[in-house]
Amino acid sequence: MSLQLTDVHISAGDREFVHGVSFDLPAGGVVGIVGESGSGKTLTCRAALGILPPGFTVSSGTVSLGGRDTATLSTREWTALRGSTISAVFQDPASYLNPSLTVGSQVAEVLQVKLRLRRRAARDRAVELLDSVRLPDVYRRYPHELSGGMLQRALIATAIAAGPRVLIADEATTALDVTVQSEILDLLADLRDSTGLALVVVSHDLAVVAQLCDEVLVMRDGAVVEQGPVSDVLYAPRHEYTRLLIDEHESYGLDRFLSLDGAALEGAVLEGAVRERAPLEGADHGAAR
Ligand SMILES: Nc1ncnc2c1ncn2[C@@H]1O[C@H](COP(=O)(O)OP(=O)(O)O)[C@@H](O)[C@H]1O
Ligand SMILES: [Mg+2]
Repeated sequence: MSLQLTDVHISAGDREFVHGVSFDLPAGGVVGIVGESGSGKTLTCRAALGILPPGFTVSSGTVSLGGRDTATLSTREWTALRGSTISAVFQDPASYLNPSLTVGSQVAEVLQVKLRLRRRAARDRAVELLDSVRLPDVYRRYPHELSGGMLQRALIATAIAAGPRVLIADEATTALDVTVQSEILDLLADLRDSTGLALVVVSHDLAVVAQLCDEVLVMRDGAVVEQGPVSDVLYAPRHEYTRLLIDEHESYGLDRFLSLDGAALEGAVLEGAVRERAPLEGADHGAAR
């Protein structure tokens, strides 16, 4: 299912916080949003999910899901879609899980509510989902018994439980160590490939975006300063701000992605993602798309 934002502006009172965001995310596509803290990434995600903070509205522009303008959805219709058709994972997984319930029962609950599975079926399916995020044997564990990376994977299991067509991952891997992060990115890439899941990936880590996304938006102070195929934006940035972001990130490993030669790219480092589309040094950017 597609998610389309067309010139979305987000305001609270007479102050505008986001000044026009557009992207067209097809089924199986991955769009990335990068930019410094406070640039409007999360507000944009929340607008797409119909859960802006109190007082904030989409003051102009449209958000369409599967071709339908979400402004025409009733509260009830939105509630039915959210968590099933369109789902999200945010940073700080602990705050989204109930500390007094087992992890498995929380995944099972989503299945009972959103898919109307019976208890037994929901439990079996929850076990499968936890397995699929590489969390065997945590069904009966409580959130405090899990590490941050395990919690984030549990939250992803919850987010994908009802088989969403669009998943928004807002800094979902930010707090995780590199190994766990890449496991989660692999999992998301697998879901995209196997189910046609469309992904919005928000990260301040350009390496994550380089690995996973087709298209990237660079935001600053609520505005999109640069947007286009990852291969153009990250490998041949036009905007000074994007260049600054890339420079900043070289020390965090983007250089790994930018400086590898073709042979290395064929290897394990970039499993699946950049491989088919990254124009390598000296390659023709236009021809790569
Ligand atoms: N609930 C809120 N109440 C007041 N201001 C908010 C709220 N959420 C976001 N903002 C403001 O909107 C701007 C964009 O925030 P956000 O979308 O969270 O940025 P990002 O996710 O890129 O770090 C910031 O100036 C932030 O202070
Ligand atoms: Mg944010």
